[in-house]
Amino acid sequence: MLELALEELPRVGVPEGRITPELVQETRAAYQRQVTAACLRAIGTVGAKPPHPLKEDKKENFLLLVKKILKDRNLDLRHYHTELLKRRLALRLIATKLDSYLEYMRRLDKDPKEYDRLFATLCINVSEFFRDPPVWVTLRYLLETVIQKKLSSPDRRLRIWSAGCACGEEAYSLAIVAREATRRIAHNLEIKIFATDIDRECLKQCEIARYPKASIANVDQPLAERYFSRDRDTVTVEPEIRRMVEFSYLDLTSTDLIRETDLVLCRNVFIYFDHNLQKEILSKFCASLLPGGFAVLGKTELLPTASSCLYDEIDGNARIYRKK
Ligand SMILES: C[S@@+](CC[C@H](N)C(=O)[O-])C[C@H]1O[C@@H](n2cnc3c(N)ncnc32)[C@H](O)[C@@H]1O
Repeated sequence: MLELALEELPRVGVPEGRITPELVQETRAAYQRQVTAACLRAIGTVGAKPPHPLKEDKKENFLLLVKKILKDRNLDLRHYHTELLKRRLALRLIATKLDSYLEYMRRLDKDPKEYDRLFATLCINVSEFFRDPPVWVTLRYLLETVIQKKLSSPDRRLRIWSAGCACGEEAYSLAIVAREATRRIAHNLEIKIFATDIDRECLKQCEIARYPKASIANVDQPLAERYFSRDRDTVTVEPEIRRMVEFSYLDLTSTDLIRETDLVLCRNVFIYFDHNLQKEILSKFCASLLPGGFAVLGKTELLPTASSCLYDEIDGNARIYRKK
């Protein structure tokens, strides 16, 4: 497994000359941390995996519930992966000690706060700063290149969209890289990261910008010291980075989008969606991106074949694509 970390570097597009012993060591350590975290997560998930409610695991009532959520809360789950949805719903059925989707619909009517708990369960908002470190080696390089290009163009705006931002770790990681790339030069580039999600609790968390210490495990020491303040168990993102990010509610299944972006990251969000919805969202990103802009998906997510007419693959391993 560790050897993969080494093979990974050239494949994620790091030029030969940039593969220093320090980078190799850093990548190895990051991989080890990732493997440990993935094992712990897997153990937790398998241990907590609930059975589907027997009599109510019926298509009809499930679809009724999905329609109700759309009608009441305008969240369209019709093209989410059914099995994933059912597993998450089962967690709420167990927690509310209800046996069926019908009873659960009644509960939603009686206790609208249950919607908040349901959404918190549906939105698997696990994230961390510089998640998938080997991919960030390439992302950093990409962002630096985009910034260099902007600096020599008349366009004074760099706009990045972190779509499905969870609690903001990805957006702040982008801001840190952008700040690092520009902090030693005089420039008048206006850098803005738009970070969006449908989880309102997460969005509140994003604004507070306080995280458990463990969430910065992948952040290089000098960056951690420069851009985070610490108290006993938590770290808080420094205001100069927070000012670069704007958080808002945006449902990717709606027609809303962020306009005129140079780079869109939508990582580890497509797991929720079926192929058709993924295709639609990729068209939306295409409409959002400026000509030649980049889209980045999660490490385990593939560009649907039908969307390859919209994008050229830049780095298949890091899942980086350029708008045609
Ligand atoms: C696993 S997190 C990914 C966070 C981050 N992008 C990363 O890779 O670490 C997935 C996020 O997608 C969000 N999400 C799910 N459905 C969505 C939708 N329809 N529109 C916007 N965000 C959505 C969830 O709320 C959750 O915060």
